[in-house]
Amino acid sequence: MTEIGSTWARRLVCSATGVTADIDHPTFLSPASAPWLVEYELDAARGAAWKEALAERPWTLWRYRELLPVVDFESRVDLGEGGTPIIPLHRLRPEEIEVWLKEEGGNPTGSFKARGLSLAVNRARELGGTGVQLPSAGNAAIALAAYAAAAGLPARVAIPDDTPAEVERRCRLHGAEVFTGGKTLVESAARLAELGGGYWNLSTLKEPYRVEGKKTMGLELAEQFHWQLPDWIIYPTGGGTGIVGMHKAFAELEALGLVSGPRPRFAVVQMSGCAPIVKAFEAGADKAEPWENPKTNVWGLRVPQAIGDFLILGALKETEGAAVSISEQEVEELQARAGREEGLLVGPEGAAALAALFWLAADGKIEAGQRVVVFQTGHPANYG
Ligand SMILES: Cc1ncc(COP(=O)(O)O)c(C=O)c1O
Repeated sequence: MTEIGSTWARRLVCSATGVTADIDHPTFLSPASAPWLVEYELDAARGAAWKEALAERPWTLWRYRELLPVVDFESRVDLGEGGTPIIPLHRLRPEEIEVWLKEEGGNPTGSFKARGLSLAVNRARELGGTGVQLPSAGNAAIALAAYAAAAGLPARVAIPDDTPAEVERRCRLHGAEVFTGGKTLVESAARLAELGGGYWNLSTLKEPYRVEGKKTMGLELAEQFHWQLPDWIIYPTGGGTGIVGMHKAFAELEALGLVSGPRPRFAVVQMSGCAPIVKAFEAGADKAEPWENPKTNVWGLRVPQAIGDFLILGALKETEGAAVSISEQEVEELQARAGREEGLLVGPEGAAALAALFWLAADGKIEAGQRVVVFQTGHPANYG
């Protein structure tokens, strides 16, 4: 039975222990305090039927409905998320390397955070949540506020004090309550935890569904590259949901018989003032130490601690990936160059990823003739 049209989600599996749980009940972290991941029923017959069905569907992330956990598809909250372009770079690239920018700034709310928060808010509503909240470096707060508004759910966000004023303005515009008073994301999270009211915590990887939304970036790449995945994916990494999600997407496509061969190699990009994953990768560690006193104006990358650290590092190890840290000055240079040389307005996170592209090529990690996707994750206007 292929059952095209309804979700193939089967159960939740603990990413650390393999313990399973029912997917029809609200749950956040596993008993081992690790992220849950959604498991789907997948085989080659389903893969063939699914690929055929895709041809008829609109170019948003909802085209992948069987590989998403939403049960009541027709009543979903849908602001048109996903379906972003890949833009070939002609001048702003190392010689003899083919580079595409995955331009996520055109998503609703101006960033790729729309993908994950769409799925998390849809599931919260479907499972009976009556309010949602999260601490955020910026873009996730805006996305949560927008999707909660569309779902008719009250929302609370906590943002560190020096987050750009535009983030707060946008959250309030969607009716969210905004809490400040923390110096870092960790302090903002603690602030929210003190509040009562039964609001569901939709923090990165602390519930199972944001990663399902982020996964669709990998599904889109497979289609955009005609099921021949690129050699490298360069990704500005905070909580790492995108890497965990895309790695999961490629495993699911393999189980469906739709892609084969070596997986794309992931390159994690962080800022030199907050680079916990880069440091752990360089030390050959399986987990990352929290970064003391994070300092960077690349807000999306000011994430001192990631609960999915072992999953990100695992994906790097499995794909023989890389990890690069970038200076603030390089970010400014690359933003200027993207504007001048390609006509593109990139966010600081996307500029960091572009800087990493040149480092990886100079290092000989990325080789001539290889195909590289660089993630441009958010529109700079979100920061005012
Ligand atoms: C624009 C932007 N890029 C990248 C990131 C990091 O994303 P992830 O949590 O998937 O590592 C963030 C997170 O806040 C962001 O806002």
